[in-house]
Amino acid sequence: MGITEPDVMDCIAVLPPGLEEEGARELVGLGAQAVQPLRRAARCRVDLATLYRLHLQARLPFRILRQLGRFPCRGRDDLYWGVQEAADWAQWLPPEHTFRVDASGSAPGLNHSHYSALQVKNALVDWQRREWGQRSSVDLDDPDLALHLHLSPGRPGQTAEATLSVDGSGESLHRRGYRAAMGLAPLKENLAAGLIALTGWDGSVPLVDPLCGSGTLLIEAACRALGRAPGLGPTGPRAFALERWPDCDPALWDQEVKAARSLSQPGLTDGRPMAPIVGNEADPEVLAQARSNAAAAGVAEAVELRGGDFRAFEPPQGPGVLVCNPPYGERIGDRDELEELYADLGRMVKERCGGWQLWLLSGNPELTGALRMKASRRIPISNGGIDCRWLLYEIR
Ligand SMILES: C[S@@+](CC[C@H](N)C(=O)[O-])C[C@H]1O[C@@H](n2cnc3c(N)ncnc32)[C@H](O)[C@@H]1O
Repeated sequence: MGITEPDVMDCIAVLPPGLEEEGARELVGLGAQAVQPLRRAARCRVDLATLYRLHLQARLPFRILRQLGRFPCRGRDDLYWGVQEAADWAQWLPPEHTFRVDASGSAPGLNHSHYSALQVKNALVDWQRREWGQRSSVDLDDPDLALHLHLSPGRPGQTAEATLSVDGSGESLHRRGYRAAMGLAPLKENLAAGLIALTGWDGSVPLVDPLCGSGTLLIEAACRALGRAPGLGPTGPRAFALERWPDCDPALWDQEVKAARSLSQPGLTDGRPMAPIVGNEADPEVLAQARSNAAAAGVAEAVELRGGDFRAFEPPQGPGVLVCNPPYGERIGDRDELEELYADLGRMVKERCGGWQLWLLSGNPELTGALRMKASRRIPISNGGIDCRWLLYEIR
């Protein structure tokens, strides 16, 4: 898929820390070019169709930022004047449209994100007043234009830089719309999708989560295997901020929505039926949430959800892949009880899941010690700011 000037644009996909490489792979698979993993993000170049495709189909990013302008930023004045020249504001921000500015990073004299965002806002409304004698209102909740400023201080001896972008989703992409109900400490949907991608599970062998909570890992796995595009909610595509951009191309958008829809199928891409996906949860209320989430995501028939203690769990005919995000004490659970839980989990999988793989998200190395198993892979992942490891155990 070739990208020709002038419709090529630079974008940043904001990713969960630890999923940069996997996120970059996903962008490449969806047609993005010049993809480069960064810290908590990946850079890429796309045309408009690919940008739309990323919003509808990418499972890992929180958001996709489309760069409007990039300029040297030695201080407040550079930021003020640079913003005014960064884009064709007559197109992007007429005064009857609302906007919002988020900021991250720092540059000389610009160490507070809130202040930097305010400086961008002032530059824009001053420009509007000069141009039209009136200005846009700020709307923090549902603006017509969501702007993002990133300041990078640069290496010693280099000039700091400002990048001004527009956010194409508005609301974070991890909110798929299927999860009205959440158990305790649920994983974010994009993080769960990334963890599943890291396992390499392709739907051909059973997938089991013996402590499935509200079912996020299994629901994301089912959606991926059955080609359910994350941007197409159960009741049709959600509203995206990019639909309000001045260069929105409704015909191209419809074409990408149709293409995303056509990916959905009852079985695997090669026509085979999908292997069983089974979840187990001890808390009846949380189990009910998992069921309602799976139904809302349109994968209730693909995900079997059982109630009960994992100690009594009987896995389907294997071998297959176990995924698991047990409590680790930061948010829920009590220390001694948790050690016992991990020890019992280790015993259960060794007794009943010989030949399977176990992928476990650990936020506490002392607890995983109680499993009495040796991990063959340890992938650093941040789960809502908690430093975790996605651990692989080959069960003998
Ligand atoms: C950290 S949560 C899992 C969250 C899940 N990944 C999600 O996104 O919703 C751990 C879950 O393990 C469940 N659990 C704790 N002890 C259990 C046991 N003995 N048997 C089965 N489930 C248990 C808890 O009720 C809780 O829902």
